[in-house]
Amino acid sequence: MKLFSFFLHSSVLVLALSVSTKADEHISKTLIVDQSGHGDFTSIQSAIDSIPSNNNVWILVRVKAGIYNEMVNIPRDKPKIHLQGESRRSTIIQFGAGGDSIKSSTFSSNAEDFVATDITFKNTHNLELEKPLTWAPAALINADKASFYGCGFVSVQDTLTDSQGRHYFENCYIEGAVDFIWGNGRSIYQGCMINVTTSSGRLAGYITAQARDSAADNTGFVFKDSLIFGTGSAYLGRAYRAYARVVFFRTKMSDSIVPEGWSAWNYVGKESTIVFAEVECVGAGADQSKRVAWEENLSPKDLNYLLNPNTFINEEGWIQRQPKVTMIL
Ligand SMILES: *[C@@H]1O[C@H](CO)[C@@H](O)[C@H](O)[C@H]1NC(C)=O
Repeated sequence: MKLFSFFLHSSVLVLALSVSTKADEHISKTLIVDQSGHGDFTSIQSAIDSIPSNNNVWILVRVKAGIYNEMVNIPRDKPKIHLQGESRRSTIIQFGAGGDSIKSSTFSSNAEDFVATDITFKNTHNLELEKPLTWAPAALINADKASFYGCGFVSVQDTLTDSQGRHYFENCYIEGAVDFIWGNGRSIYQGCMINVTTSSGRLAGYITAQARDSAADNTGFVFKDSLIFGTGSAYLGRAYRAYARVVFFRTKMSDSIVPEGWSAWNYVGKESTIVFAEVECVGAGADQSKRVAWEENLSPKDLNYLLNPNTFINEEGWIQRQPKVTMIL
């Protein structure tokens, strides 16, 4: 028993040391947001506002559990913010604006080098019944080098605006019905859960609406080792721009996915520039026998380029350089 507790103790110590060492390398300041008044701030925006313009050191904003009813905006001149909740189920930023695909976003990040861990971004506008469905994004990611670990994105239409820049999502949860992962980002979604909430019996929704605009544009959404499930039905994506690029790799799809899989939207008859692909996916929704004829068959070279974070989004290693302490020990 004594020996056991010694081992237990020492391994906890080692873990704690390695985590704090990692944090010390990166984090120069920690701000605590706590609704009960025991932290430095009671709202997330007031913590962001306290950070000076042209900030160039990593600042950890630790948000205690609770539902924060506010819109939060990180302006362009405040890079290097790490927003950390306690878990995506217990720390939630939510608001209910609707009608504008950009301005209604509950959370907006316009600064380079941003990290979020264990927090949910939610827009409740379309979740209130009897309202016509409209644009109601939960999060707008509008700058280069943003990463998300264990985060939640919840709305119905336009949930996650993956607008521009390179982004990495790991173990995240994304919920919606229409175009709920959309924009012109260059992103990898690793091990994410996608919950399609189209009402059953209603028109099919769309998981993605990617906006790649030309052959030279290096953007696209790549989903790896992810899980798609839900109540209603949905397309994997529709082309928001002529060169839209979306890949699902090794993803498990429930029968929520419609047999044709993809929609050309405004580019019917001009599908040759659209790059929509599925590779090694499984599950009832992954049957490709009735897919649109123009689904892309990627060459091994193009596939490897897109699947490898180091070639597609992480050329200079920015992901490893960001802090991502997910456990509060
Ligand atoms: C999917 O979303 C619906 C609607 O919000 C919710 O009731 C359900 O619990 C979600 N499923 C999971 C596994 O989170």
